[in-house]
Amino acid sequence: MILDKFPTADAFYKTYWGKKPFIVRNFVDSTLMETFVDGDTMAGLALEEDIKSRIVTNDSSGQQWECEHGPFDESRFSELGARDWSLLVQNVEQYHTDTAKLLEHFHFSPRWLLDDIMVSYSAPGGSVGPHTDSYHTFLVQGIGVRKWKLSANPVMDKNYIEGMDIKVLQNGFEGEDFEVRMGDVIYIPPHFGHEGVTLETAMTFSVGFLGPKMSEMMAEYAAYLEEEESRDKRYLGEGMAVDSGAFSISSQEQNTIRRDLINAIQSDDFTRWMAQYFSTPTYTDIENIEPRDEPLEEADILDALQKGEVLHRAEYIKLSITTAFDGALNLAVYGQVISNALAHKPLIEILDRNEIISIKNLDGLGEQDAIITLITQLYNLNVLSFEDW
Ligand code: SIN
Ligand code: CO
Repeated sequence: MILDKFPTADAFYKTYWGKKPFIVRNFVDSTLMETFVDGDTMAGLALEEDIKSRIVTNDSSGQQWECEHGPFDESRFSELGARDWSLLVQNVEQYHTDTAKLLEHFHFSPRWLLDDIMVSYSAPGGSVGPHTDSYHTFLVQGIGVRKWKLSANPVMDKNYIEGMDIKVLQNGFEGEDFEVRMGDVIYIPPHFGHEGVTLETAMTFSVGFLGPKMSEMMAEYAAYLEEEESRDKRYLGEGMAVDSGAFSISSQEQNTIRRDLINAIQSDDFTRWMAQYFSTPTYTDIENIEPRDEPLEEADILDALQKGEVLHRAEYIKLSITTAFDGALNLAVYGQVISNALAHKPLIEILDRNEIISIKNLDGLGEQDAIITLITQLYNLNVLSFEDW
């Protein structure tokens, strides 16, 4: 379970992703971790109406848990005492963007499936109990010391203790114990048992990847088709024969309907929809995304690049890229496709590789006008910025 060093991206997908948990010690540098959110800031976030937070208290018998949902009153924190509680805050990468830098360590992972960074701050004894998640999770240890029990196999007995707001496995699971400290990382595939207990006041950064359910994708794609009448064809029963009379849907018509639905998915529309769907933020309505207060013109962007400035994508910004039938890339952010032009392909590939954009690499990207147009658009959407970061 404990690896000497982090697996290569190739080995990660072949051996571990979805299959096997592992631990790597000292994966994240403590100087970087010191810039991440701290306990006081977490408590501040938990007072906010729009931020998802929970306080989980447990008793030392290990049988009783209680979960309260935020927003909390400041006074709630002074009542918590010295032991047996955890504060959990979701989407911290959006509210404390320095914490998003942790994602640089996980660029090999499917960033398009990233749900959020959830942070827990827990007092000694604090635990959310033995459980499994539908997520792939990297648990990165911040301050403190925690003991994690981890299962080597997926947990089959998914009976949960009844009447509680959190899912705690009634019968626990078979596993081995490991102690983790600052910078250590644990990878947990979906459905593998895990249970953390805090030994010394601790913070854990959970980088979670969650795939959608078929029903969610179908509902969302249906809504997308509905947006434009031309995409949303009606079944008209053309070519229907006598065997579809009365209440029988003939085999031929069953196949026609099935084929119509398959065609709707085997389309460039679907490829485009996938890009926008997977770039949709999990923490807010798309309407809330604010474009930059002081937008720049294309000439200003080019000028700044020529003066030696460089552009970066901030780590909290999630992109999603799919390949259209003509080989162009659909680039989406905040649930919208921003480009599907072939001329933008080299720039989009650079963004995918997390490279900076400078005058040096601009030349190799093809037609400059087209490239600057997209860069400007991304800058004005706050996707790219000149700030040092
Ligand atoms: C925790 O940090 O206590 C919970 C994280 C998890 O189990 O996903
Ligand atoms: Co978990």
